[in-house]
Amino acid sequence: MPGPEQAELIIRDRRDTDLEAMVTLALESMTWHADSYPDVRPAPPADALRGGFRELVPTADSYVRVAELDTLVVGFLTAALLPPTTSGIEALDEPSVYISDIIVTGTARRRGIARALLADLDDWARARGCHTIRLTMHAGNEPAHRLYEQLGYRPTWITFRKDGDDE
Ligand SMILES: CC(C)(COP(=O)(O)OP(=O)(O)OC[C@H]1O[C@@H](n2cnc3c(N)ncnc32)[C@H](O)[C@@H]1OP(=O)(O)O)[C@@H](O)C(=O)NCCC(=O)NCCS
Repeated sequence: MPGPEQAELIIRDRRDTDLEAMVTLALESMTWHADSYPDVRPAPPADALRGGFRELVPTADSYVRVAELDTLVVGFLTAALLPPTTSGIEALDEPSVYISDIIVTGTARRRGIARALLADLDDWARARGCHTIRLTMHAGNEPAHRLYEQLGYRPTWITFRKDGDDE
């Protein structure tokens, strides 16, 4: 697969016809997570995901965009604009954006596609007067860690976990 420097990379709103590509990408990521980390649930059947993705459409406060490289959907990013909160310990006094999923298929990685999706999300957030973008990721996910770090994201809250007799 050529890199975006030779191929045309388009970041665009998802369409109905992207459903199967999005389900396939989500399964790829979920299967990888489940195979990599013992505390991740196995990927559900494709049918179980299809309904959720069918409903996940772009709106004024829902970011659902795909990355298309030479007419093939090779990645997607989903995020939501959240209202400010007055409760909870984390200061979120202004609207913020929460990323639910970012996925680039294995054969298209390290070509700047996730970076392009996140840059597009920055513009989307800024257009809504929003300066804070948050997400949750597995502590062991080195590629994602490097990606976010390179783009200026910093870890804030961290979840610790102990299972049974773990030392
Ligand atoms: C994480 C993921 C989205 C990155 O997508 P990508 O398109 O390959 O990322 P990019 O090419 O835009 O990388 C941008 C920068 O991130 C960092 N990075 C990305 N993947 C990396 C890796 N495997 N190892 C080290 N650094 C990496 C690098 O700094 C990279 O810049 P460089 O290539 O100029 O060095 C992709 O690996 C993926 O889909 N993983 C499975 C799903 C997942 O884990 N999603 C995140 C859940 S929170």
